[in-house]
Amino acid sequence: MTDTDTVLVVDFGAQYARLIARRVREAHVYSEIVPSTISLDEIRARAPKGIILSGGPKSVYETPAPTIDSGVYDLGIPILGLCYGAQLIALQLGGTVARTGRGEYGRTELTLVPGTSSPLCVDWPSTAPSTVWMSHGDAITEPPPGFVTTATTPDAPVAAMHDPERRIFALQFHPEVVHTDRGGEIFERFLLDACGCLPAWTHVSIIEQQVEAVRAQVGPDRVLCALSGGVDSAVAAALVHKAVGDQLTCVFVDTGLMRAGEAEQVEDTFRRQFKVDLVHVKAADRYFAALAGVTDPEQKRKIIGELFIRVFEEVARDLGSGPSGADGGDSASGAAGGAEGSDAGPKFLVQGTLYPDVIESGSDTAANIKSHHNVGGLPDDLSFELVEPLRLLFKDEVRAVGEELGLPHEIVWRQPFPGPGLGVRIIGEVTRERAEVLRHADAVVVEEIRRAGLYRELWQSFAVLPAVRTVGVMGDGRTYAYPIIIRAVTSDDAMTADWARLPYDLVERIASRIINEVEGVNRVALDVTSKPPGTIEWE
Ligand code: XMP
Repeated sequence: MTDTDTVLVVDFGAQYARLIARRVREAHVYSEIVPSTISLDEIRARAPKGIILSGGPKSVYETPAPTIDSGVYDLGIPILGLCYGAQLIALQLGGTVARTGRGEYGRTELTLVPGTSSPLCVDWPSTAPSTVWMSHGDAITEPPPGFVTTATTPDAPVAAMHDPERRIFALQFHPEVVHTDRGGEIFERFLLDACGCLPAWTHVSIIEQQVEAVRAQVGPDRVLCALSGGVDSAVAAALVHKAVGDQLTCVFVDTGLMRAGEAEQVEDTFRRQFKVDLVHVKAADRYFAALAGVTDPEQKRKIIGELFIRVFEEVARDLGSGPSGADGGDSASGAAGGAEGSDAGPKFLVQGTLYPDVIESGSDTAANIKSHHNVGGLPDDLSFELVEPLRLLFKDEVRAVGEELGLPHEIVWRQPFPGPGLGVRIIGEVTRERAEVLRHADAVVVEEIRRAGLYRELWQSFAVLPAVRTVGVMGDGRTYAYPIIIRAVTSDDAMTADWARLPYDLVERIASRIINEVEGVNRVALDVTSKPPGTIEWE
């Protein structure tokens, strides 16, 4: 990102840095997360317009506690320290941080110091306090020389301070969380006024930049993309298609374990609407044959994953890629004839890697950037070069870009779906009959959840089919059929999840529709387990 103003977010641990990076981007400024071990030379090389020091779970007095080269304060770049970052500024520049014994956690009232003014709190009423979110044990008690204290809270004598000369700002509270009333304004004032950033990071500019980057990377060569039906691969494919048009071939492998309507939607969107060269491989028979008799969940995942690789490999080799196609096969279906180099087969592979996949969770983020993020587990001997047009983006940005590119809402807002698909939602052996039953029941769950207006609120909502039969009675006779479990959860990141309190009348509607409409089901249950201790999926 050379032609966009960049702000670096220095990560001192926990999840704060990500949230800060997202807030900066919401203010239309590009942000990147870097580890606190970053050197001054690296900072200079990136030429940021501003630097934000994040919060973190440690105390500045712990050893070891993360720190940053104090030369950062002499670079002439505006700096904003938040919570831990603020305390570090105080400590490194000669102020005092004390264990007051009175930590502050949660909402508290911030009061401006009369007679002072902070460039981050312009036009704030000087008398009425503002609500901010605190989470700290230690507190800054003396600002460093050259700093002015501009706000306090009941337990933080220096809740906000800044050095007007060096444009260094420190806030004891967290403006990045929604509970801080005017957090968004604080970021805007820092980014636009103190740093002088242009708010140019918009969905349109993201698309323009990525289109250019993909063109520069790919040149006249051909590109392959595996579509899964999910949002990431769809947006990545649409972006690459915008960049290189018919140099792109998409592959959709129908495993027989997809959700209802997914294959049709991919066909409709990519072949008919976007006019993408699409290879639709109908591989359900092979999947059911390979899964016959298998009940172990990990074994199922392995079989499904390996078969995907085999099918994909076959398509790639048909198109002239990989070692066996190195001598220039030209059997590509409908592939671009005009592009130079196109008869050598696709050389590039699109992957929908997102920014959170790139920065590994936890500390020392950028140091752990994966050089080869081989999500699909494709074998090395296919020797593709990866094209990752989403690797700078957060999920909400990917969705916005998808909408901007004209992808249907249904794809852009689709809930996550595991790679092995319905295969891990049939508990026991996967058969064609069970997949049909589950797909139908799942479609009812999703349709009713959508109709109730809850689809976007829920992280995931789906049906599970445990391959056991239970006794029931329908009409005059006894039945012996499958139960269906309704699983619906709320979550932010799938690491933890809460079972969704669906209204009872909705649960009833789903249950009675499934029993009436889905042959082979005579019982419906609701999963009320959160994660932990449960997982979202049943396998
Ligand atoms: P769990 O069940 O571990 O799921 O709480 C967390 C998230 O991961 C998804 N998931 C998978 N995704 N391959 C995938 O691509 C898998 O094998 C897999 N297993 C679980 C799950 O849907 C949820 O969003």
